[in-house]
Amino acid sequence: MPFGILGMGSACPENVLTNQDLEKMVDTSDEWIRTRSGIAERRIADHNTATSDIASQAGRKAIEDAGLTPADIDLIIVCTLTPDYQLPATACQVMENLEIPNCMAFDLNAACTGWLYGMICAKGLWVTGGCRHALVIGADCLTKITNFKDRATCVLFGDGAGAAVLGEVEEGRGILSHHVSCDGRMFRHIMVPGGGSRKPFSREVLEADEQFIQMDGNDVFKFAVRIMPETLRLVLDKAGLAVSDLDWVIPHQANLRIIENGIKRLDIPAERVIINLERFGNTSAASVGIALDEAYRAGRVKRGHTLGLVAFGGGLTWGGMIVRL
Ligand code: ACO
Repeated sequence: MPFGILGMGSACPENVLTNQDLEKMVDTSDEWIRTRSGIAERRIADHNTATSDIASQAGRKAIEDAGLTPADIDLIIVCTLTPDYQLPATACQVMENLEIPNCMAFDLNAACTGWLYGMICAKGLWVTGGCRHALVIGADCLTKITNFKDRATCVLFGDGAGAAVLGEVEEGRGILSHHVSCDGRMFRHIMVPGGGSRKPFSREVLEADEQFIQMDGNDVFKFAVRIMPETLRLVLDKAGLAVSDLDWVIPHQANLRIIENGIKRLDIPAERVIINLERFGNTSAASVGIALDEAYRAGRVKRGHTLGLVAFGGGLTWGGMIVRL
């Protein structure tokens, strides 16, 4: 039986942080940020907003879009690297916010690839009878762990949430193929060194700014331009489809140059690629879900369309999926 997306939703904080705002905070320029990343502005959660708040908004919209009620949800996976608390999982708070009764609820951290990992885990549980309707939310408030004194990273990130309700769909639709993976040898390339069990919070951690995200941008860039097209090609092959069968490619919105490089390697026409990073920056686990939901609500992505979703992130993780909506 096919398993696929029944409904979608997304949410972002209202506050906008522009490149011009960043020019006042660090030694950077609108021109540098636009030409190196393609980003013009990003949404930023205020002091009172946490990951579960935007995750719940996105989740509520996805349940409505699926034509279901909260009581129909029997699995919640919140894919995030910025949980509200160390304990309990953010999924538990989303469950309370949405008034979802008893069900399995947990967080999953696969960085920017998280939402794809989450959908595949949901599929595995569904196949074995572990759930009927899964709510999978990619949500991150990366700006809460961003060092706004580090120009190499602070210009890239934004906050948001993208969600899907998944369950049984009609024949010919759903997740047609997938591939998710990780190369742990590259785990140091993107990390938050402090605040975990390796280096619990201490005065030293705070003085060294180790509570913030650190990244080897160039190494990640080289990895991403290789892995994104390779992964999309792999899932197309697994599904027995060609690039020309895709109505839309929805890549992780990290950097315009990474996306352009990847689509050129696969000969994908630019007009079939959903790109919104100019307005949102890199929203980590939320990025593919926000791009999908925005394009769907704008009437660009339609039911019956065949989509290629592809992402990469800290771990280093990566993944791709062919979905017929
Ligand atoms: N403004 C102005 N100058 C800057 C800035 C800035 N914001 N940031 C860096 N520079 C400078 C550097 O210091 C360097 O100066 P130098 O030549 O005098 O040493 C110069 O600009 C070039 O720096 P590079 O790092 O080589 O710039 P690059 O073209 O590689 O772009 C970027 C950097 C945008 C970070 C790119 O490498 C990138 O996008 N990498 C991928 C990051 C990514 O996608 N991460 C996703 C995962 S995030 C997650 O999983 C949560």
